[in-house]
Amino acid sequence: MLEKFDRYQLTFGPTPIEKLERLGKHLGGKVEIYAKREDCNSGLAFGGNKLRKLEYIIPDAIASNADTLVSVGGVQSNHTRMVAAVAAKIGMKCLLVQESWVPHEDAVYDRVGNILLSRIMGAEVRLVADSFDIGIRRSWEQALDEVRSRGGRPYAIPAGASVHKYGGLGYVGFAEEVRAQEKQLGFAFDYIVVCTVTGSTHAGMIVGFAKDGRQHKVIGIDASATPAQTKAQVINIARHTAKLVGLGTEIVEDGVVLLEKYASPCYGIPSEETKDAMRLCAQFEGIITDPVYEGKSMQGMIDLVQTSFFPVGSRILYAHLGGAPAINGYGYTFRNG
Ligand SMILES: Cc1ncc(COP(=O)(O)O)c(C=O)c1O
Repeated sequence: MLEKFDRYQLTFGPTPIEKLERLGKHLGGKVEIYAKREDCNSGLAFGGNKLRKLEYIIPDAIASNADTLVSVGGVQSNHTRMVAAVAAKIGMKCLLVQESWVPHEDAVYDRVGNILLSRIMGAEVRLVADSFDIGIRRSWEQALDEVRSRGGRPYAIPAGASVHKYGGLGYVGFAEEVRAQEKQLGFAFDYIVVCTVTGSTHAGMIVGFAKDGRQHKVIGIDASATPAQTKAQVINIARHTAKLVGLGTEIVEDGVVLLEKYASPCYGIPSEETKDAMRLCAQFEGIITDPVYEGKSMQGMIDLVQTSFFPVGSRILYAHLGGAPAINGYGYTFRNG
C-alpha cells in the first residue's frame, strides 16, 4: 500500500513478534498473547513507534530544504526524543517545545529519561507551562516563527507526528508487516491491542488492517484521558491516510474501537491498576512498559483477558510501542518496586 511513498530508513527492519507464554498462562491460558516489539525497532536512542512514522516524514523534510526540525510534546515526550535522534542522524538542528502535560511528583522529572537524552543529542529544549492537549499547539507555532526570524528553515512536526500529511503511513506499514509475518507463522491474529493518544499509530493500523477487513479488531486503549478528542483525531487521520494510500473503502466511525477506562486518573499519571499491570508484565516476561502509555495498554489488555472480552482461543497481538525511558521520571512512584 506504500510503494509510491518515499521512505528514509530509520529502523532495523521488521520488528520481532514473540509469544508472552508465562503472562498468558498466568492469566488463565484461554487466549494466546503475543507482542510485536516496536520498542526494539532501532538503534536510534532506544527506538519506538515514532520512528515508523518519521520514516515517511523525513524525505519531505529533506526535500523542503529545512535545516531545523521543530516539534512539541510533554516534558517526558518519547516523540520529541525520537525527533532529536533523527535530527542528529540526518544532520539537522532540532528545537523541541516541552509542555507541562503531566502533574508529576518526581523532583528530577525534567532532568532524566527522554528529556535528558534529547539534551545529550544536542536538541534545543524549551520548557513551557502549557498543559496537555493533543491538538495544534500555539507554543509550537511560536517556535516555528522564532526559527524563521533567526533566519533558519524550520520543518514542522506536530505532537506525536500525528497531524501531519504523512503521519499515518508508518502504521499502515505495520499492518502490512504483520500480514507478511502471519504467513510465516501460519495463523492470523484475532485482535491487535494498541495504546492511543495523538492518534496516528492507531489510525495507520486501521487503514492497514482495513485492507483485509480487520479494522474493528484493532483495539485502541486510550491513554490521553481526553478520548473524544483522541477518537476524532484517529478518525480524521485514518480518513486522510485512507485517501492517500487509495484504500478504496470508507473509514466508518463504528469501525474505530477506543476503550476509555484505562487512562485514569489523567494523562501521564498511572493508577494503581496501571502500576500492577506494569509489574505483572515485568515480573512474568521481563518486559518493561511505561506509566504513561504502554502500562495503560498492558493494563487494558490484561483486564480484557480477565473479563473474557476475547473469545476462548483468540490470538492477541499487543503492539509494544516503546516509551521505557520515561520511567526514569517515576522513581518516587516505584520506590518500593
Ligand atoms: C510509547 C508510546 N506509546 C503509545 C503512544 C501513542 O501513540 P499515538 O500518539 O500515535 O497515539 C506514544 C506516543 O504518543 C508513545 O510514545
